[in-house]
Amino acid sequence: MLKNFWYAVEFSAAVTEQPKRVVVLGMELALFRRKSDRKLIALSNLCVHRGGSISDGWTEGDCIVCPYHGWQYDADGACTKIPANPLDHPIPKKAHVDAYPAEEHYGLVWVFMGDLPAAERPPIPPFPEFGQPGWRAVYGEFTWKAHYSRVVENGIDIAHTPFVHAASFGNREQPEIQSYEVESDDNGGTARVTMMPPLPKGLWKFLRRERTPVTVSPSFLMPNIARLDIDLGKWRTIVFDANIPIDERTTRTIFVQIRNFFTGAWADGDSRNRVLKIMREDQRTVESQRPELLPYDLAAELHVKSDALGVSYRKLRKKYLDKGWGIDSHLIRTAYAGRSAVVIPSPARRENPELARAWVMPEAPVITLRRKAVGE
Ligand code: FES
Ligand SMILES: [Fe+2]
Repeated sequence: MLKNFWYAVEFSAAVTEQPKRVVVLGMELALFRRKSDRKLIALSNLCVHRGGSISDGWTEGDCIVCPYHGWQYDADGACTKIPANPLDHPIPKKAHVDAYPAEEHYGLVWVFMGDLPAAERPPIPPFPEFGQPGWRAVYGEFTWKAHYSRVVENGIDIAHTPFVHAASFGNREQPEIQSYEVESDDNGGTARVTMMPPLPKGLWKFLRRERTPVTVSPSFLMPNIARLDIDLGKWRTIVFDANIPIDERTTRTIFVQIRNFFTGAWADGDSRNRVLKIMREDQRTVESQRPELLPYDLAAELHVKSDALGVSYRKLRKKYLDKGWGIDSHLIRTAYAGRSAVVIPSPARRENPELARAWVMPEAPVITLRRKAVGE
């Protein structure tokens, strides 16, 4: 699991003034909207007093109140009130929690899980078609008992379609994948192939009545987005999956699907169900892959030409692990479990070096060379 990236953590519509607990990269966040301006606030959920869960509390004015002893924290994570203290007692310098930058795009809440200054942060994964006239969006979610890296790779894997999706859009009669080029940069990679899927069933049968070729463009966007663009000529649909790493064994996928046909609300349920059906078809395969984590070493599994996009994802992921951005979840789950709570460092830790010793919660350990052999 990689820090220093923007993660979609929740649907915008699901975040209100009432704090909500979300988990990403094995870390808990308290997510809520500030009363005065509806601004999104994302704080570490661990109260530095006694490790209480702040998100179980409530908001008062623009602050969030920890439900255990009522400490209040503002949008920057600074404690502004300790009710048990006599009024003349100053609030200790160490009384603050990590606050993470949060933004809204494409109907999703994005949180920057890291400590890089704004200018050095990788971009929020782009979705240029979203919100353009003529497109209709639907949202949905799906939970996998699998590591997010396997889920991402499955989402961009082209050659499994005739086998895993034989009952829907796969064509077992034509399993070969024509050679394709991968266009990639430091933020992701994309491919474009022509396929000959069977004619669609149900409502979508009106879109394509003859076996004409379909252009399929899968992409990955670091660190965890799988995007699938299906172009039928005039009609086009794009699925944008944010595969949220909850922990080493759990991934919550929140997806946005847009389409430029059947743009009325009447077709929303059908569109959403098509995405969910595909995920259900993939589920057994992805959850049974071993090892659970995508290997760090490229030679650990065998690649053929049609795997070029997946290989490109593995290489880029390795590059960021080599930068020291990989959270050592294994160490946290074993040596630290139950004894020491850690957090992903927020930008304030770097911006205020004079406060270096004023953080109560230690930083999550990162993967060292010794641990790379077993991935992240
Ligand atoms: S644990 Fe949060 S106020 Fe005491
Ligand atoms: Fe699939």
